[in-house]
Formats: sequence, structure tokens, C-alpha cells
Amino acid sequence: LFAGPVEFLKGVVAMSGMPPADRIEVCFAGRSNVGKSSLINALTGRKTLARASNTPGRTQEINFFTLGEERYLVDLPGYGYAEAPVAIVAKWQALLKQYLSGRATLRRAFVLIDTRHGVKAVDEEIMKLLNRSAVTFQVVMTKSDKVNNATREANIAQVQAALAKHPAAYPEIIITSSEKGEGVETLRATIAGLV
Ligand code: GTP
Ligand code: MG
Repeated sequence: LFAGPVEFLKGVVAMSGMPPADRIEVCFAGRSNVGKSSLINALTGRKTLARASNTPGRTQEINFFTLGEERYLVDLPGYGYAEAPVAIVAKWQALLKQYLSGRATLRRAFVLIDTRHGVKAVDEEIMKLLNRSAVTFQVVMTKSDKVNNATREANIAQVQAALAKHPAAYPEIIITSSEKGEGVETLRATIAGLV
């Protein structure tokens, strides 16, 4: 599906370290521990490509992965990590802002929302930022294997209501489980279909 190498390219801590903006790019944004790195592994079929961990705030750099020759997949540092030092949070936020508003080749941001929790205030903040930056974003719900049907349906409805407020939101939600594989093919095809 992605012709060419799928591999970790680099982790960056400043805009100056970014690879040249010469490919179609998508990014994964979401609260710390929502399952960004796990989903990257599921998506690429590589168990240890991105470092997944039980420790919130594991991914602190902006990590670039190649999806073949034509695409970058970008794993953003998780936000909303309560125990993170204030100075570090401020630094992440500034970098995140610069990245989301300054990357011309960014085609779509995938905002990952835990199916158990739905949209939280920090997710709303990111959506507002994306909206202001005119970056089209799409919600991917994660860890679907961890909820019962009632919670799943309630939280899907809650996400849909939140999206209705944001013109930059792509209306279709993708429900995923990195553990069970639900939705992974849909997400893969969505990314492959962006031109
Ligand atoms: P940060 O890098 O800290 O922002 O976290 P992250 O969003 O990259 O989350 P990560 O992929 O590291 O996953 C966090 C924890 O959730 C790990 O213990 C994963 O094993 C678990 N996890 C992730 N996805 C799933 C899933 O689909 N189902 C289940 N049951 N657990 C998951
Ligand atoms: Mg991570």
C-alpha cells in the first residue's frame, strides 16, 4: 500500500530540525497515552516501530516516519499529561502550535480520542487550534476493544456533537483498536488515499 520503505526517520524538537516539506504528510495528535504510537505500529504492521509505553508522556519529540517514498507519518508528543513540568508543557505547546500552523504539506491531522473517554477539554483546544490553522482534521477513536457497546455509542455521539462545531473537521470518524485490528485497514486506506 505504501510503496517503499516504512521506517523511523528522525525525532525533532524544533521546526529547524524538520525534514524538507516535500511529501504528503499526516500527523497523529492526541492526549498522552491515547494510543498514538500503538496505532502507528498497527498501521505499519511493525510491532516496535514507534515506542509504545504505559508511561504517559513517552513520546516527547515530533517523530517522523516514512510511509513509502511519498508520505510522512508524524507522531506528535501527547498533550494533557497532568504530571508534566509546566516549562516542558509550554515548550511542547509552542512547538505543536508552530508545527500545526506552519507545515504546508500537512494534509490531515488525525486527532485520536480514547473510546472510553470521549472528547476532553484539551482535545477541544487542539481542535480549535487546527481549525484556526485551517488544517483538516479527522477523529480516530482508539482502544475500542476496551469499551462495551453502550459506552462506545454514547462516546461516538459525543464526538460527533463536538465535531459539528468545527468547520475544519472531517465528519467521518474512524473507530480503531490497535489490539484487535478494528479500523486499521480503513485508516491505512484513508492515508493512502490522500493526495
Ligand atoms: P504518549 O506517547 O505518551 O503520548 O502515548 P501514546 O498515545 O503514544 O500511547 P501508546 O501507544 O504508548 O499506548 C499507551 C498504552 O495504551 C500502552 O500500554 C498500550 O499498550 C495501550 N494501548 C494502545 N492502544 C491500545 C488498544 O487499541 N487496545 C488496548 N487494549 N490497549 C491499547
Ligand atoms: Mg507515543
